[in-house]
Amino acid sequence: MIVLRKIVVINQKGGVGKTTTVVNLASGLARSGKKVLLIDLDPQGNIATCLNVKSIKDIYDVIVEGVDPMVCIVKADENLDVITSKETLTKAEMILVGEASRETLLRRRLSGVKGYDFVIMDCAPSLGLINQNAILYGNEIFIPASTDVLALSGLRNMIRAIEKINEVFAHDARISKIIPTMYDQRNKICKDVLGQMKSEWDGVLSEPIRVNSKLKECPGSGKSIFTYDASCRGAKDYDLLVKGVLAPQSQGAPAAVQTRFEAPSSGRTIIRRTPFAQ
Ligand SMILES: Nc1ncnc2c1ncn2[C@@H]1O[C@H](COP(=O)(O)OP(=O)(O)OP(=O)(O)O)[C@@H](O)[C@H]1O
Ligand SMILES: [Mg+2]
Repeated sequence: MIVLRKIVVINQKGGVGKTTTVVNLASGLARSGKKVLLIDLDPQGNIATCLNVKSIKDIYDVIVEGVDPMVCIVKADENLDVITSKETLTKAEMILVGEASRETLLRRRLSGVKGYDFVIMDCAPSLGLINQNAILYGNEIFIPASTDVLALSGLRNMIRAIEKINEVFAHDARISKIIPTMYDQRNKICKDVLGQMKSEWDGVLSEPIRVNSKLKECPGSGKSIFTYDASCRGAKDYDLLVKGVLAPQSQGAPAAVQTRFEAPSSGRTIIRRTPFAQ
């Protein structure tokens, strides 16, 4: 029996490499023989461009019109299917506000999705209702975070928000990977921030994705980095991420971020319970 892994790639901070990670992770898993459904939950609709697919029905129809997700799926590559998104999804956010059990609507709408090893979701840079729905659908959360100073506080807020959603809805979406992105090893700030990430989230921190111009170029080609330039740094880094996701220790119950944080100065352990959306 196929056990479906539902990975939500999220960070409320914009431009940190969520879409780049989703496209290349999904493509890498598909190339290794896994059946992958990639769902774009961002009204920017970048996935369709990145993978050069077109679709008449998209995730708006699934969420708002109740259209069967299976009829919204388009094939992007061998083993890789996609449900696209476009700007109409912004309206869905407003329509959802009036729905009963609005936070779990996506989970209900996608309950019939079968035959995949992975469903991977690309989220918009927000903490809106659609993203809450994504978290409540997922069982694994990946947070790409750029290796710059401002990223750290955003990352802590994101983790708190996910914990709060889990707590309020008695859900168990586990933050199983924090992915440092835009890493430049010649840059002291990048090294410092990566060091800080290691000290706070060692168990779930993956190897950094380095800055690589090929990763910037490849969305325009409609290809993943593995097809665009298999020998570049970006392809190597994302290949390592794919291997990490497929590693035996990542299957089944994934490691999860600790809800206990070591206070760096005193060594005290504190439990953060800061409310969501404060
Ligand atoms: N490792 C990298 N090296 C160089 N450029 C990168 C890297 N990762 C992503 N980029 C580029 O940075 C920009 C932002 O990346 P991306 O769209 O993946 O971020 P995002 O978090 O999905 O953004 P948004 O929050 O707007 O959805 C894009 O132009 C992308 O090509
Ligand atoms: Mg994006």
